[in-house]
Amino acid sequence: MTTTEQSPTAHDSGTSATQAFRAIRQQSRPGEVSPERISAVVGRVLAGIHDAIREEKVTYDEFQAAKAWLIEVGEGGEWPLFLDVFVEHVVEEVAAENQQGTKGSILGPYYLPDQQRLPSVAALPTRPDEQGTRLVFAGQVRDTDGNPVAGAELDIWHADAEGYYSGFAPHLPDGLLRGVVVADEQGRFEISTVQPAPYQIPTDGPTGKLIESAGWHPWRPAHLHLIVRAPGYRSITTQLYFEGGEWLDSDVAQATKPELVLSPQPLGDGRVRSEYDFVLERTR
Ligand code: DHB
Ligand code: FE
Repeated sequence: MTTTEQSPTAHDSGTSATQAFRAIRQQSRPGEVSPERISAVVGRVLAGIHDAIREEKVTYDEFQAAKAWLIEVGEGGEWPLFLDVFVEHVVEEVAAENQQGTKGSILGPYYLPDQQRLPSVAALPTRPDEQGTRLVFAGQVRDTDGNPVAGAELDIWHADAEGYYSGFAPHLPDGLLRGVVVADEQGRFEISTVQPAPYQIPTDGPTGKLIESAGWHPWRPAHLHLIVRAPGYRSITTQLYFEGGEWLDSDVAQATKPELVLSPQPLGDGRVRSEYDFVLERTR
């Protein structure tokens, strides 16, 4: 990556992720959380912190270092990055306890609503010189009884072959490698795109600094993000990974599941093809 004014930084990604989060939250008009619930959950979180301080004999120096780091995460807009990498997978685990059909995974900080709607056989927007292996991703959306879900939407987004997301890395055009594909009457779809690269948490921001200081690694395996939805069905937010992919067994976000791994096969013309069927649960 050449260093230009356009090169992506943690600050760009962090700030954009915070803005995107605020915009989506405003649209969804969340309800109030009750005082009882706040007291119960926050009480437990604080008790966990108190335990860690006692058991690890945390010093005043360490406490002040933590405060300085927390301030930096806020100023860099990195709360969505940090929380989605280190916390969201457990929220998803709890949400999935009563969910049938395709396994879910974390949403992550890089979802953008209202992308271009595309027909059931479609190519995601790419640049003329888009790098990366051409991928054809096809399948069918069905309900838990095996019936096709006509017109299901596959809201799909993923990183480019360098691991960057459009809308967050300023050198990428808006809408790149994003789209809402509408399945046909049989719930079928065929999406042409490129294979994403593994994603690295921006190393120049506070989340990256924490990971480096702790001696952890900042990588997520290459993945496609999807929200699959249809009226009358519970939406599934998930991710699909690639067999044999680097970091598949040590995802920093702990968001992989064995059921969510694709095995793309060569088509003989430089492209690879992978099939995956989604199963949605009825809500009524
Ligand atoms: C983060 C980035 C991702 O692409 C993802 O899928 C999950 C989390 C992050 O930087 O927090
Ligand atoms: Fe991602």
